[in-house]
Amino acid sequence: MKLTVKFNLIFIAIFGLGLLATGLIARRFLFQNARDQTIQQARLILEAGRATRTYTAERIRPVLDRYQREKDAFFPESVPAFSAIRSLSYLHQAYPDYMYREPALNPTNPADRALDWEADVINLFRNETSLKEYVSERDTPSGRSLFLAKPMPAVASCMVCHSTPQVAPPAMVKIYGPTNGFGWKLNEIVAAQIVSVPMSIPNGVASRAFWNLMLWLGGVAALSLVLLNLTLLVAVIRPVGRMSSAADEISKGNLGVPELPVQGRDEISILADAFNRMHRSLAKAMKMLEE
Ligand code: HEC
Repeated sequence: MKLTVKFNLIFIAIFGLGLLATGLIARRFLFQNARDQTIQQARLILEAGRATRTYTAERIRPVLDRYQREKDAFFPESVPAFSAIRSLSYLHQAYPDYMYREPALNPTNPADRALDWEADVINLFRNETSLKEYVSERDTPSGRSLFLAKPMPAVASCMVCHSTPQVAPPAMVKIYGPTNGFGWKLNEIVAAQIVSVPMSIPNGVASRAFWNLMLWLGGVAALSLVLLNLTLLVAVIRPVGRMSSAADEISKGNLGVPELPVQGRDEISILADAFNRMHRSLAKAMKMLEE
């Protein structure tokens, strides 16, 4: 096998391994980063839901309560869950893959009844009370989706409307009926806030970044291979080739071949120098023999 082929095989093996290792690490890093960003997005939306809940409880309900008591009326707009779900439904309209829900196992509004996978998440929170947040992924018709969930316990202030129909505002029972959304126990995890965020966009960005990086690294590796080959040709292959053809000529008795050029003090030059000395000694010996 020729020296160039041998070296090229070694170079290609080294570059290939390097590219593979870099590719694996970069891929992991990019996709992990995409996931972290998606989680961050979900957290922001969840906080927006929480902020709307707090605003409704602190600012809207006191205003509407006065009016509700006077008129014996009930406005769902005074309910934190209602305002958080409704306001973020506008976000869902603009970005259909983004969704905010407050599913409950026993909901006041049937539209909030937990789907199978949501019920699993709520039950997970009920079984593991130390769990304060849960992140996972699932497949949806529009692609992979990440969801972030937080448990919702029933605290004392919730009991006015979620304990029994007798305690709840009559106007509310008139709207929602006496069967759903009651019987919640104090401090029990009754529902969850769940935000779903699509993975397709960040994953697409990560995938494009990955292939871009690999393309550039592949280009740099190919260029390095060309440069290494040129260096190999100039520093080793050509001088060794000159030396072997000179040796060939000399072995055939043609002692008149010109001396090899000696440049620098590397191993090849030292060898060429030694070769020239041997060539000269041989020529001298032959001359002495002839005389
Ligand atoms: C003033 C009465 C009232 C209070 C107080 C109240 N809720 Fe509700 N809650 C409702 C009504 C009415 C709905 C249904 C709203 C709708 O139509 O979307 C609801 C809906 C919900 C939902 C969505 C699931 C469902 O049942 O439809 C959750 C979760 C929820 N409430 C949790 C709580 C928690 C937790 C508290 C206490 C921090 C609380 N609620 C306090 C009246 C109340």
